[in-house]
Amino acid sequence: MADDRKPLISGNWKMHQNHFEAIQAVQKLSYLLTKEDIAAVDVSIHAPFTDIRSVQTTIESDKIPITIGAQDCHPEVKGAFTGEVSVSMLAKLNVGLVIVGHSERRELFGETDEFVNAKVKAVFAHEMLPILCCGETLAEREAGEAESKISGQITAGLAKIPAEQVARMVIAYEPIWAIGTGVTASAEDAQAMCAHVRQVVAEAKDADAAASVRIQYGGSVKPANAAELMGQADIDGALVGGASLEPDDFAKIVQYRLN
Ligand code: PGA
Repeated sequence: MADDRKPLISGNWKMHQNHFEAIQAVQKLSYLLTKEDIAAVDVSIHAPFTDIRSVQTTIESDKIPITIGAQDCHPEVKGAFTGEVSVSMLAKLNVGLVIVGHSERRELFGETDEFVNAKVKAVFAHEMLPILCCGETLAEREAGEAESKISGQITAGLAKIPAEQVARMVIAYEPIWAIGTGVTASAEDAQAMCAHVRQVVAEAKDADAAASVRIQYGGSVKPANAAELMGQADIDGALVGGASLEPDDFAKIVQYRLN
């Protein structure tokens, strides 16, 4: 991690925690995190849509320095899209960071690179920042196609996004074979792929965007492996699924520098 990029540790709760549980978890986290932690690391919590209003109220009334996140959005402001939640509805709840193109959205719900790109644009248009996810399957990795898959997802996801915006956003490299499996990429492999992501940004945009964009690693990040992953030059943060559900574990990941 470079000194000029502040680390970002994000908890992706996926379809876990009802709004009562969410309030408890955020409050518990606020007791565990210190001023020094927050000075050193940005933290975001990406709760299910039904929890976000409760998370917002808790964070704002208790002045908890955690960014309110979302796991997805629909790029349109409003319309006949049954079951969807619009980007502007999230902005109204003071959401700061929106995950777009998570591999579960792409693989289970058929999201295309074009749709993901529309979400990236919409998130910026509503003054939030996207966390654009990319990652290869095990079959793609074994076939030697990991780099080309990532290049394609990043180039398409960032199409027509100005370099100045890319500099402020976040990209999460999450190998699909490491998500929820307990198998983490080795720190060397994770570093190599995050360096590749940065190279793709340099080629698609410019050197300044590549130097500034924050790149997270995701896939079975736990208290035990966070420090080693965060010690890599091109890894600026972590997108944490399973281990973010337990505030004690998530706080230990945020406090990776104390290990
Ligand atoms: P995991 O999920 O930490 O449970 O592997 C990461 C993610 O999907 O963002």
